[in-house]
Amino acid sequence: MIWNFLCSNKCITGIRHLKVPESDMADDDTLRFRAISVLSLLNKKSQLLEKEGVSYEEPFFLAGNLWDVFKGKRQIGKHLGYLYSKYTTPYFGIYIMGKPYLVLRNPEIIKSVTIRDFNNFEDRTFACDKNVDLMSGNSLFILRNPDWRNIRNKLSPIFTSGKLKLMFPIMKKCSMEMVIFLNKHDSEIMDIKEISAKYMTDLVASCFFGFETNSFGEKDSDFRIVSKKMFDFDIATAFRLFSYFFVPKFVSWFKLKLFDTDFLQNVFHEAIKERQTHDIKRNDFVDLLLQLKENFSENTKNTHFDTHSMVSQAITFFVAGFETTSNAVAFALYELCLRQDCQDKLREEIEKIYKY
Ligand code: HEM
Repeated sequence: MIWNFLCSNKCITGIRHLKVPESDMADDDTLRFRAISVLSLLNKKSQLLEKEGVSYEEPFFLAGNLWDVFKGKRQIGKHLGYLYSKYTTPYFGIYIMGKPYLVLRNPEIIKSVTIRDFNNFEDRTFACDKNVDLMSGNSLFILRNPDWRNIRNKLSPIFTSGKLKLMFPIMKKCSMEMVIFLNKHDSEIMDIKEISAKYMTDLVASCFFGFETNSFGEKDSDFRIVSKKMFDFDIATAFRLFSYFFVPKFVSWFKLKLFDTDFLQNVFHEAIKERQTHDIKRNDFVDLLLQLKENFSENTKNTHFDTHSMVSQAITFFVAGFETTSNAVAFALYELCLRQDCQDKLREEIEKIYKY
């Protein structure tokens, strides 16, 4: 786990940043505003870890300790794993774009940050600029407090097992299409990542947008084309994501949208219109988000849950749920292919619990 070491309310990067009382922020703010040049500012900040007696990686100028990632030598997760294994201390420091971060190694400290002392670490440090990107700015992933807490408290109850169970028929329909496709291609060598992505595209589109996509058809569905494009990696995407993570000012200056969400917004608006005009109920997330919006304004002060916010959450679920789950499914299926004994055991367990 990484947290931003500086107690700045304009904080960037890291996974979460530490909330520190205003009075304790004076030094950093003074440093921020009296800086004669960017370089002198960076210089002082780059002494912070040393001053605090934290073991740290020697930074490579502005890129800090992510230089190997920027060069494309190592993927970020692997790079952090590599740094993690170099240390035995409970935490160590790294620099990114001249800013100091702590990488936590000790499970007890991680537990404090994520559970016991979470009140001090509530905000993520991702860029949040609603004027530039209304969709990402309203997303649960990016919202700042108190909005995050208010919306999170209202959204959690829509993920109960009872409500998810109601979506089971939708999920089953998507999996049956995958089964039919696999049966058609029995004994062929298949790209399991692509198959999982098609399956998750259908599932996520149906559960979160009320839209049946049929990705296992002859040609790619519009949803599949959009999801592929979202996760395609090129220089422009790298710059955008890097700015969202590490230099939020670039997001505001260059008006960078996190993702092109026009298609998803249109589909969701269509779904809402259809539900409202024809009074359709499907027991999916569109229904649940519509109910949430109706009840929200009645009892939550200051935080708004308008149509933009509702669409933004649906897009968040799509983005957060699609790639993560399709990768997990792909790896699980791949491993099961290699281990017939695990496959048999799993089949037995499923058949015991779930009657077709
Ligand atoms: C294997 C699948 C998944 C993995 C590994 C995964 C991983 C994660 C992780 C690590 C976080 C926390 C990040 C942080 O604290 O900064 C997170 C947050 C989140 N995930 Fe997932 N996720 C998965 C599936 C899903 C699915 C299916 C959905 C869609 C409903 C989803 C929606 C979210 C949302 C909305 C958040 C932000 C929650 C908040 O800030 O309150 N995830 N996920």
